[in-house]
Amino acid sequence: MSIFNVELKKVVDDSYEIEVGHSLEQKLISDIKGGLVGKINKFAVVTDSNVKGLYADRIAAMLAAEGFRCDVISFPAGETSKTRRTKEFIEDTMLAKGYRRDCCIIAVGGGVVTDIAGFVAGTYGRGVPFINYATTLLAAADASVGGKTAVDTPLATNLIGIFNQPKKVYIDISAWKTLPQRQLSSGLAETIKHACLASRDLFAYLDANMERIFAFDDEVCGHIAAENCRIKYSVVMKDERESGLREVLNLGHTVGRAIETVSGYRLLHGEAVSIGLVAEVKLAAKLGYCTEDDVRLVTELLAKAKLPTAIPGYIDREELVRKLYTDKKVRDGRLRFVLQDGIGAIKEFEGGQYALPVAEEAAREIIMSV
Ligand SMILES: NC(=O)c1ccc[n+]([C@@H]2O[C@H](COP(=O)([O-])OP(=O)(O)OC[C@H]3O[C@@H](n4cnc5c(N)ncnc54)[C@H](O)[C@@H]3O)[C@@H](O)[C@H]2O)c1
Repeated sequence: MSIFNVELKKVVDDSYEIEVGHSLEQKLISDIKGGLVGKINKFAVVTDSNVKGLYADRIAAMLAAEGFRCDVISFPAGETSKTRRTKEFIEDTMLAKGYRRDCCIIAVGGGVVTDIAGFVAGTYGRGVPFINYATTLLAAADASVGGKTAVDTPLATNLIGIFNQPKKVYIDISAWKTLPQRQLSSGLAETIKHACLASRDLFAYLDANMERIFAFDDEVCGHIAAENCRIKYSVVMKDERESGLREVLNLGHTVGRAIETVSGYRLLHGEAVSIGLVAEVKLAAKLGYCTEDDVRLVTELLAKAKLPTAIPGYIDREELVRKLYTDKKVRDGRLRFVLQDGIGAIKEFEGGQYALPVAEEAAREIIMSV
């Protein structure tokens, strides 16, 4: 018998820039011309049916005008497209158009597009580079930054995916102006989550400036885009693969993701997270880490952002309790929750743990009260 020791220690530098600004299409093109992805000259622009005409076609035309080979691959907008089937459609389209390993994927759109395009990029030809051009506040706040990519399954959201870091992320604040109000609010849920878990100042800022956000005030939108990146990255840089600290970014998501699935995607991701934040701040209050005043403040800020704060009547709450067990933080069959420590901090538990095992009865009691 022979034993070979395959030594494959990796030193990887996956660092990249996130550029926040207005109408960054031209900047994207000049970065590519400047060698952002080396000598690659074939680009698959992945987008959805809404963003195609608004931004993706223009980016593709600008690339073509510079002599790059480029195709726009579009799928129907919405969470229900974030599936293995859509991933296969993108891959098959790229294969049919002759894309091989010497290509780059540019995701132009919201979180559904960046999640699926990043996943395709990680497996296409065993991995090709990708760039995110984020056009929603939700993608800017969360989905396009951090390197998590995934598709949904009938059981639950984001169960199949990989960690895969983009070459660069562009956050186009001007693009928020074409977002329907419901979508802008959905992105505000992740922004409020960041405030709840890491910054009392951001919480107060959002409270004071909500109307200016809905008026697309440049200064305010720029500030919240930058704060979202700062908070998310202060966590991701310490724990890229969610072995500990990164779990804090899950605040509101244990209940939120379950509601999103049980609602059959009638609720947008951020809307479900909003209700999840209310449930989880209530749980934190029940366990003594927050006050009733904190619960009121969080609920009021979410309502100010035009987000739902109660579980809709059409949701079967017992089914919701069962769905909590599809959460990735579940260990040994036990539910685990990330909990606020007042507003602007997360409770750290013994042994540097950020998720606390919670009995099903306590979780059920909260679900019944929201
Ligand atoms: N990877 C992560 O770390 C992470 C984090 C949070 C959320 N997510 C995922 O992100 C997704 C939600 O992101 P989202 O809300 O951006 O979803 P989305 O991509 O579906 O975009 C929301 C809607 O807005 C439209 N749209 C996008 N940009 C537009 C623009 N500028 N103007 C007009 N319409 C526009 C889209 O076509 C879509 O209908 C979920 O799938 C969620 O799981 C991922």
